Amino acid sequence: MNTNHNSENQLQGNTLAFDVYGTLVDTYGILIALKRLVNVQAELFMNTWRGKQLEYSFRRGLMQNYVDFNICTRQSLDYTCLYLKINLTNDEKEELMQEWDVLPAFPDVKEGLDNLKKSDCRMYAFSNGKAENVKRVIQNAGLEHYFEGVVSVDDVKSYKPDPRVYSYFLRKTESAAMKSWLISSNPFDVIGAVSSGMRSVWIKRTPNAICDLWEIEPTAIAGSIMDLNTILKI
Ligand code: 2OP
Repeated sequence: MNTNHNSENQLQGNTLAFDVYGTLVDTYGILIALKRLVNVQAELFMNTWRGKQLEYSFRRGLMQNYVDFNICTRQSLDYTCLYLKINLTNDEKEELMQEWDVLPAFPDVKEGLDNLKKSDCRMYAFSNGKAENVKRVIQNAGLEHYFEGVVSVDDVKSYKPDPRVYSYFLRKTESAAMKSWLISSNPFDVIGAVSSGMRSVWIKRTPNAICDLWEIEPTAIAGSIMDLNTILKI
């Protein structure tokens, strides 16, 4: 890890920005409902839906034609049904949309955040989702008390990895870039944060996960949220 800090408690005075969907909560929690609705195609459906949802957010950001993340999610759901030739009723689609509010926390998250809470760092949830939706999902997952607040890209009407959203995070939380860490399992988010001057930890939960081989790299890599305390103190 390329950090020059040597003090005993490196986390002191640092700000941690936690990505939400895919990092704190598991988007694949929707698989249970999907298995009931689309049976053996559940995993393919989920991969297509999540991939398109993110693609739509990237395109909306580039086009400067912002709609909120729920709309990206709903439009990518419609696309996925068409692509896989699966007919879902409006009620079934609504049921799937509501699953985004009750996604489970990954198993390492509570213990990892408990450890971090003991240190003197400020922790925020930082997401593409609208603040009200992010508050709902972290509350339902039992995580809300860990965070000083939720910062949403909705305030700047763009999406990760637009550098404006990372600058906004720093302004809103009154944090210095060199003392601010984006924590994410999403490589595009990690690379976007580093490109904007922040530090980052890529959470590589599975050995097969791949980070893009760009000239911009995560500042550090952790196997789980539980490793953060150790990694950030090195
Ligand atoms: C989030 O911003 C990228 O979905 C991810 O929460």
